[in-house]
Amino acid sequence: MNEVDKDQRIAIVGLGKLGGILLRAFLDQRLVTPDRVTATVHHESNAEARTGTYGLPVSTDNVDAVQNADIVLLCVKPAGVRAVCEELAPVMADKLLISVAASVTTADIEEHLGDVPVVRAMPNTPSVIGSGMTALSSGRFATDRHLALARSLFDAVGRTVVLDEKHMDAVTGLSASGPAFIYVVLESLAEAGVKVGLPRDVATLLAAQTTLGAAGMVLESGSHPALLKDEVTTPAGCTIDGLLELEEGGLRVTLIKAVVKAAHRASEL
Ligand SMILES: NC(=O)c1ccc[n+]([C@@H]2O[C@H](COP(=O)([O-])OP(=O)(O)OC[C@H]3O[C@@H](n4cnc5c(N)ncnc54)[C@H](OP(=O)(O)O)[C@@H]3O)[C@@H](O)[C@H]2O)c1
Repeated sequence: MNEVDKDQRIAIVGLGKLGGILLRAFLDQRLVTPDRVTATVHHESNAEARTGTYGLPVSTDNVDAVQNADIVLLCVKPAGVRAVCEELAPVMADKLLISVAASVTTADIEEHLGDVPVVRAMPNTPSVIGSGMTALSSGRFATDRHLALARSLFDAVGRTVVLDEKHMDAVTGLSASGPAFIYVVLESLAEAGVKVGLPRDVATLLAAQTTLGAAGMVLESGSHPALLKDEVTTPAGCTIDGLLELEEGGLRVTLIKAVVKAAHRASEL
């Protein structure tokens, strides 16, 4: 059980925003074919609509959807996990459960499912364009092979990292909430471009591509961001004037506090 093979079936319980992003990415990457996937939602009307959207069976019957699956991807809201696990417990033998629910521990899930292998995943929404960031950790009964299988799914939609579960709330605050923080930074840069005379669409393009390029420099060079910043800061040039404004505005401390607050909130959900 190292990679998803073509005979394995996946059930997505909770085909909402994140479940839909992951399903779309798995289908686009040909990790699974639609005839190997079943999915569920809460409302009957959404089941009908999503059957049409994804071209595979979406119902409101969790037990039926999971019955023949090898891998169950649990994508309901944290508050719904307990009820769904209680419902699924009788049909979970020999299946791997992967949960993306923020703040729900593998131990919480094992309490309802018994000795079922559980992997906890914390992905983010850029998974939809193959640029996701997912942290994974395994529960008591998940083997390295289960973890490798889960990893192969999320590798298909971006980068993955395996961490001790104690870090999952921190991951939620940084990479799961992070896209929203970066959108605000990006929006502000674009707004600044408009202020200095650029058309809005050009300003947004410049801001987004600059953000992408800077992130790529950090990932590809492996250099500390401070070093990369120093390299583009000419003595008495323009960039240092901008950096001074950032320091005066408290950008660093504001971003740090945003991640800390989001991580703290994740521990309370
Ligand atoms: N969004 C993110 O960026 C992100 C990132 C990492 C992790 N997560 C985690 O992903 C999970 C889902 O978040 P989301 O933003 O995708 O929420 P969402 O859009 O509200 O999706 C939740 C889905 O669960 C369905 N559902 C509710 N109760 C159910 C039940 N008893 N049986 C089957 N399906 C049920 C809902 O059905 P209806 O559509 O019919 O209401 C909905 O489709 C959360 O636990 C969250 O912590 C989200």
